[in-house]
Order: sequence, then structure tokens, then C-alpha cells
Amino acid sequence: MEKAVLPRHIGIIMDGNGRWAKKRLLPRTAGHIEGAKAFRKCLRHCVDLGIECVTFYAFSTENWKRPKDEVNAIMKLFSEYLDEGLDMYEENIVMRFIGDRTPLSDSLKAKMEKLERETDGNNGTTCCLAVNYGGRDDILHAVKTLAAQGGDISDITEDSISSNLYTSGLPDVDLLIRPSGEQRISNFLIWQAAYAEYVFMDVLWPDFSEKDLDSAIAVFAGRNRRFGGL
Ligand code: FPP
Repeated sequence: MEKAVLPRHIGIIMDGNGRWAKKRLLPRTAGHIEGAKAFRKCLRHCVDLGIECVTFYAFSTENWKRPKDEVNAIMKLFSEYLDEGLDMYEENIVMRFIGDRTPLSDSLKAKMEKLERETDGNNGTTCCLAVNYGGRDDILHAVKTLAAQGGDISDITEDSISSNLYTSGLPDVDLLIRPSGEQRISNFLIWQAAYAEYVFMDVLWPDFSEKDLDSAIAVFAGRNRRFGGL
């Protein structure tokens, strides 16, 4: 694929794990296990394509409402993935985590910090995992940080908010992909995706393949981005 048509930052809402499992009369957690496999495959493909940054919506601030067993199973999948680490070193990936870490377990927090520290010097694809992330919470957190600095109100600008979001330093989202047939943003990167191109797809996340990513990028490449201009 030509570099010129590639989005710099792709956001992906990994949706449809539960329905994938239900269709097979399996427990919802089986869908998340397959979802984690699809995540690995998709990240690897982003690396192969030379994508600068990809953010995956792994757990929202609202997902705590799910049954405890399901929440625990998802946390276990994160933890296992973070233990692997290997991928990230071999693939030159820069690992970032966005979201409020406060309610996460100490062991998960320690693993996140370690990976961020250890992959900081890499210069390949940035993989951003959104865990306990909410777009409104992100903006609120940024505004509170700015307010606590006690400067003048006129010092608060779009740039100062952007640079205090969890995604600070990353480019805005160019392409936002939501599989599973749902057509909403669900509080994901609402500031950063203000000018993103949205691609909604019917495939359930565990079935999401390299071809699906290619076709979403092809749709993106065919769009006429105007950023409010003509
Ligand atoms: C949404 O599908 C999915 C989640 C809330 C969890 C996503 C988690 C994973 C894919 C595992 C991540 C693991 C790693 C290693 C990053 P849903 O359960 O809402 O699906 P449904 O709408 O069909 O019920």
C-alpha cells in the first residue's frame, strides 16, 4: 500500500466479541479470548503496513457495569498480553496505555509502566491500548490538569487541551474503524477523532482479518477529507 494514502493514526473499537460467542453458544469470555487473538493479528498487520499509531478500545469507563467474571476475564487477557512483551520488542513497537489507571490492580499498573518504559526507545508503530478509557473523562482530566496549574483562562487553548489528553504527543485520529455493525463512537477518542473518517463494518471483532483492515484503509484512501474547508 502506498504510504501517501495511509492514515497516520487508526482508532479501532473492538466490538462484537459477545455476539461472536453467542452465535456459537459459547460463554462471552470465549469471544474476548478470540478478540485478543484478532487484536494481536491486527496490530502485527499495522506494523507490517508501517502505520504510525493505532489505538485499540479495550475497556471503557462504562465496561465496569459488566458481570464481575467477564471483567476479570478481560483483565486477565490484558495481563497475559502484557506478560508476553516479546512481540513489542521484536516488532519495535512503542507501547502506550490511555485511560484512568486508578482502579486497575497494582500488578497490572506495574506491568503497564514497565512496558511503557521499556519500549519508549523503540521507533516503530505506537500501539495505544485504551483501558478504563472514556473520551469525556479524558477531556475532563485534561481540563482539571490545566486548571490546577492556575494560569489565566485565556491560556487554555485547543493545543493546551490536546497536549494534556492521555494521547498527548500522538497525531489526531485519521481513521476510526468500528466493526460489529454498530454505528456509534461510544465515548472513544471524541476529541482526537473530531475530523476522523469513520468506517463501520459488519464483521464481528474476533473475525476481523488483515483483509478487513486493508479494506477499511482503502475506503479511507478514497475519501475526500476537507477538514471543514471546500
Ligand atoms: C466489546 O465487545 C469488547 C470488549 C468490551 C472487550 C474487548 C477486549 C478484548 C478484545 C480483549 C483485549 C485483549 C487484549 C490483549 C488487548 P462486546 O463484548 O461488547 O461485544 P457484544 O457487543 O457483541 O456483546
